[in-house]
Amino acid sequence: MQRLMTFYDTSIGKKLVVAVTGLIMYGFIIGHMLGNLKAFGGATALDQYAEMLREIGASFLGNTTFLWFARIVLIVAVVAHVVTIIQLSRRNRASRPTRTVRRRNASTLAATWMAISGTLILVFIVIHLAQFTFGWIDIHKTGTEGFEYGAVYSNIWGAFNVWWVALFYVVMMAMVCMHVYHGAWSMCQTLGVDAPPRNQMIRGGAATIAIILFIGFCSVPVAMLTNALSAPPIDEMAVEPQKYERSPQIMNVSEGDQG
Ligand code: HEM
Repeated sequence: MQRLMTFYDTSIGKKLVVAVTGLIMYGFIIGHMLGNLKAFGGATALDQYAEMLREIGASFLGNTTFLWFARIVLIVAVVAHVVTIIQLSRRNRASRPTRTVRRRNASTLAATWMAISGTLILVFIVIHLAQFTFGWIDIHKTGTEGFEYGAVYSNIWGAFNVWWVALFYVVMMAMVCMHVYHGAWSMCQTLGVDAPPRNQMIRGGAATIAIILFIGFCSVPVAMLTNALSAPPIDEMAVEPQKYERSPQIMNVSEGDQG
């Protein structure tokens, strides 16, 4: 343990933590985007997929145990990623020359961008969970169903039929994907896989993944807003919704109430 902490205290140890936790989040975000595409298979396909995630290992671990394990890994990864980046940037600042000779070069601009977009993404995740996981923020088009546990398709259909909710997601996805692009590139530098003959290919690969993520994530809100994806069937209910506990609704706004 002592050796592990000593290693973590070195710059390379910290960079490794940033890279590994970044990879975990990369895996999550790619998986999440692919899962969202189930919406194109219809309401039942998406809801059953979400239910399947809750039930992984249910026979021996109990319902949602695996999901909670994955959530805890993700939360630990996010916290370790953010804390370590803050420590690294403090260390870098302390070892930099005085203000008068400090120059605003490309790498400081990229670091500033990563800090701002990273903070906004954290805020987005809080709003996102409050909206689609807990249903505390329930904004949906007038005449559509409000938030219902397990009725994932219906929940996002109602929300994305409010134009500014769909636009908010498109803007946030652009931010997430640019963050992921810069993150992937600097992760390659951290891991030492960058080298002049390969750099163009690495940058191209990172940009391609970011663009695929952007198109994949945005396709769902855009298709729902434009009705390319149809409304959920009237009787679409959560898959056995009674299994899930209800939380208090802090905010329940339908489009007609927004003035
Ligand atoms: C258009 C884009 C997105 C859509 C439509 C979407 C949709 C959803 C929905 C419906 C849920 C709840 C699933 C359920 O309760 O079964 C969810 C959960 C979640 N989303 Fe997203 N999401 C999007 C983008 C993102 C992005 C970019 C991130 C991360 C930066 C993210 C992070 C999460 C997290 C952490 C959860 C909670 C997972 C859990 O604990 O079960 N989402 N998303």
